[in-house]
Amino acid sequence: MQQAIAILDSGVGGLTVVKEVMRQLPQEKIIYFGDTARAPYGPRQPEEVKLFTTQIVDYLMRFSPKMIVIACNTATAVALDDIRKRVSIPVLGVIGPGARAAIKATRSGTIGIIGTVGTIRSGAYERALKSIAPGTTVYSHACPQLVPIVESGHFEGPATLQIVKDSLQELRNKPIDCLVLGCTHYPFLSEQIRKVMGKKVLLISSADETASEISTVLNHRRYLAKNDETPVHRFFCSGEPALFKKITTNWLKEQIQDTPVVWQVPNFR
Ligand code: DGL
Repeated sequence: MQQAIAILDSGVGGLTVVKEVMRQLPQEKIIYFGDTARAPYGPRQPEEVKLFTTQIVDYLMRFSPKMIVIACNTATAVALDDIRKRVSIPVLGVIGPGARAAIKATRSGTIGIIGTVGTIRSGAYERALKSIAPGTTVYSHACPQLVPIVESGHFEGPATLQIVKDSLQELRNKPIDCLVLGCTHYPFLSEQIRKVMGKKVLLISSADETASEISTVLNHRRYLAKNDETPVHRFFCSGEPALFKKITTNWLKEQIQDTPVVWQVPNFR
């Protein structure tokens, strides 16, 4: 099926999922929407995040995608069920895949979760983990300073490392053997997070598992794209396009070097 997979996030975070999808399913056409004008979603009330997610999904449905991927934990936590009722195509979130990846990886059954205030407050990860493995011990912590750093494009340098260190302070002495990056923006900072948490703590991103789930669902429905055409990807952002384009092209450079890309700032509200 030649229709696109539509992937959305509050900003550039969902590109961590896009990269994995492009690696695992290079023949698939992607439409990405980053709501950069209204990021971060983490500190917002659930009703507002639901509204924004619905607006974006309605916009993306104009392109007749074959699947919607909510590549944002904050939006998955509050809007996944509503969106599933709203559209008749498959809708995937990132919390289920993230929880499954963590349960596969943990040896001790003691897992750390970091995410936005909205995601941590929702308790969605804890529920997902405990529904798979009820005996799991979970330490959750919100890191509200990390998304703005990623959106600003300043991933490196001592100031960033210090903010990462401060944000993770509370989890550093906990007996966890893996840490779920429960916000799709955080893999941009995985080098710094690894430095702070040490080698013994495995970092879990939901991106790989989400991409495998996309592949499974598309395969099951016989919706996979055929290999005979180079896909054209489309990237939309609601805010300032120059920084979005720079972060996107740096992050996806290998994946999009031979692929035509269309950039757009939509007027969707
Ligand atoms: N990347 C998103 C998430 O996974 C949203 C971060 C935000 O906008 O606060 O939660």
